[in-house]
Amino acid sequence: MRVHIRPPQPSDADAYTTAVLRSAEHIGPWNPVDPNGLPELLRRQGPSLRSFLIIDNEDGGIVGKVNVANIVRARFRNGALGYDSYVPYEGTGRMTEGMRLVVDRCFTEYPEGLGLHRLEINVQPENDRSIAMAKRLGFRHEGFSPRMLFINDAWRDHERFALTAEEWPGFATPSGR
Ligand SMILES: CC(C)(COP(=O)(O)OP(=O)(O)OC[C@H]1O[C@@H](n2cnc3c(N)ncnc32)[C@H](O)[C@@H]1OP(=O)(O)O)[C@@H](O)C(=O)NCCC(=O)NCCS
Repeated sequence: MRVHIRPPQPSDADAYTTAVLRSAEHIGPWNPVDPNGLPELLRRQGPSLRSFLIIDNEDGGIVGKVNVANIVRARFRNGALGYDSYVPYEGTGRMTEGMRLVVDRCFTEYPEGLGLHRLEINVQPENDRSIAMAKRLGFRHEGFSPRMLFINDAWRDHERFALTAEEWPGFATPSGR
């Protein structure tokens, strides 16, 4: 493993700003670019949103950020993954390693993990790299959601991918969870 994951903290703000600014060009077409957004993200953490930073084990730099958003519990136990990877780690496979750790954490029993049963990834149809990520992680293509999210001043269509705990290696018996 070249990375580990942990929740963001206030002291990450400067490194986060630098990482997002360096990566604006590849994030911008697909996700909002908000270099000063960490304090607001920290304020929003709660039952329906949990964020993780993917950290490089060697130099401690921020490889990427993953939001587990729209968390609903009760009979659904569902969350939606949103993510960005940052230069200079982008395209080195570290983001995929970190995403695997996040998925693992999501499916791990509460309180060590989030205790979720289903995860979604919603991707704009032209976002080949993110679609490749969803497939690499084993997410199934479930369908097409027209005008799903408001991004870059328009309601954007999304392809919907999903994964349940039963499909994730090591989590074969989720019925009792
Ligand atoms: C989508 C996104 C997160 C993917 O991140 P990434 O940094 O490319 O992720 P990884 O580096 O883990 O991807 C693996 C790629 O690195 C390559 N790679 C290089 N070295 C590697 C290694 N040692 N091990 C594994 N893969 C390696 C793989 O071949 C793969 O490339 P491929 O997709 O062309 O096959 C990133 O492109 C991004 O931030 N996009 C903008 C925001 C965005 O679209 N977010 C998602 C919205 S739904």
